[in-house]
Amino acid sequence: MTDAPVQQRTLVLVKPDGVRRSLAGEILRRIEAKGYTLVAVELRQASDELLAEHYEEHAGKPFLAPLVEFMGSGPVLAVVVEGHRAIEGFRSLAGATDPTVAAPGTIRGDLGRDWGLKVIQNLVHGSDSEESAAREIALWFPAL
Ligand code: PPS
Repeated sequence: MTDAPVQQRTLVLVKPDGVRRSLAGEILRRIEAKGYTLVAVELRQASDELLAEHYEEHAGKPFLAPLVEFMGSGPVLAVVVEGHRAIEGFRSLAGATDPTVAAPGTIRGDLGRDWGLKVIQNLVHGSDSEESAAREIALWFPAL
């Protein structure tokens, strides 16, 4: 908690599992109900090149190739979300990476589960720092 407002923007992606399951509206509803503002929203099919850049910090990790394949398996809803401490706030709203153990009340905890597939399908991405948010927003929404 701080005294001064820390207005932040964060990049949220509703991943292909969320779009396929028609959960995009419910996820946007939760973001708005929390009190954040939607600055930009775009449904798009991400290219391998865009996803490789988006996930560049995970280069070399074993989950990267299946993650990129999954993220390119259908459209994602890219959203820029704004508000006081929005980066930390959205990650709290999203819940833990593994939807099996994500807390009830969170997006992943309420709406996600383990489907026994080779890749974790956890519905949403949220930037993890101010640096990542600036980089990711410039990548997905260069006109902003
Ligand atoms: S790490 O290694 O601590 O940086 O990993 P983490 O922050 O938990 O996750 C980074 C992103 O990789 C996704 N992830 C996975 N996807 C599929 N399968 C597996 N096993 C897996 N492990 C991690 C995780 O959801 C993060 O993606 P985003 O898009 O940021 O949610």
